[in-house]
Amino acid sequence: MTLRTALTEQLGVRYPIVSAPMGGEAGGALAAAVSEGGGFGMIGAGRGDREWLRREAGIARNATGKPWGIGYLTWAITEAVIADALSHEPAAVMLSFGDPTPFARLVQDAGVPLILQVTDRAEARRAVDLGADVIVAQGGDAGGHSGENAIGTMSFVPAVVDLAGTIPVLAAGGIGDGRGLAAALALGAAGALIGTRFQASPEALVSEEIGKAIVAADGEDTEINRTLDIARDAPWPANYPARTLGNPFLDRWRDRDDELRATPEALHEYRAAAARGDISVIPVWAGQAVGLVTDIQPAADIVAAIVAEAERALARIDR
Ligand SMILES: Cc1cc2nc3c(=O)[nH]c(=O)nc-3n(C[C@H](O)[C@H](O)[C@H](O)COP(=O)(O)O)c2cc1C
Repeated sequence: MTLRTALTEQLGVRYPIVSAPMGGEAGGALAAAVSEGGGFGMIGAGRGDREWLRREAGIARNATGKPWGIGYLTWAITEAVIADALSHEPAAVMLSFGDPTPFARLVQDAGVPLILQVTDRAEARRAVDLGADVIVAQGGDAGGHSGENAIGTMSFVPAVVDLAGTIPVLAAGGIGDGRGLAAALALGAAGALIGTRFQASPEALVSEEIGKAIVAADGEDTEINRTLDIARDAPWPANYPARTLGNPFLDRWRDRDDELRATPEALHEYRAAAARGDISVIPVWAGQAVGLVTDIQPAADIVAAIVAEAERALARIDR
């Protein structure tokens, strides 16, 4: 069976699996390993730290001759950041969370495929109008930040597929294994963009504690909050809360965002603990499929396992 789709054609890869550009966590080693495994690896350049990207892009280039991309947080970047991205010759640039209008043309004029991640229908329509080459439909199951009133991946993906016409759509959020990839294809997506599962790989830039927490957690252990962004003073727009694992700091401050903002001792205490990487306070971003993650595996093996399982799932349906 072949898993060739409009996405594999578009990006010139073997399998319709893209690793999420997890800011600061998806570096060159993870992107290269996913690409070497036949997927499309993305470096998560977040808010656009040039030195960090120079190092990570170098790591990716040295590790693979296959294509890989770079992703950013749209609300945090400037035109100069896009120019910096393009100087590393990525095979795609992905923009998420915020209005990509000022940047879309810069990427397209360079002849580089533009991937836009969307969290609701209005964002999806805008991505179509901007002529995105690939649209990532991120449902509320996703790990990390998502739309304020995000609906589930199962409901959101077909709605975006209907809007997108001939533009390939990737499903994102809650896909942790090959059954999820098969489901994404059944919903009309041309592939899956996966974050949480790839955090549990030796190539991801996460601490051992975070890797262990992800392996131990179930979907029910995740919750959507702004609390940890407030605590760490991250200037995220209010309409993008984040799904993280619960922790004792959240237990103390859940639903008390204004009070937290006005309590300097709590913020100080948080930052001191966060500086030590204390897992009882820091955000461990994880999606609802985190319960499907039961081991740390090399990223290329994760790609292979997802492909094999998706093929089995599709064959089962096809009987
Ligand atoms: C640890 C982590 C960090 C993330 N950081 C980013 C980011 O910087 N930029 C971005 O576009 N998406 C980011 N995302 C969201 C992913 O792009 C994607 O939508 C999500 O991981 C899909 O859901 P899943 O985690 O259930 O696979 C992040 C996700 C996680 C888990």
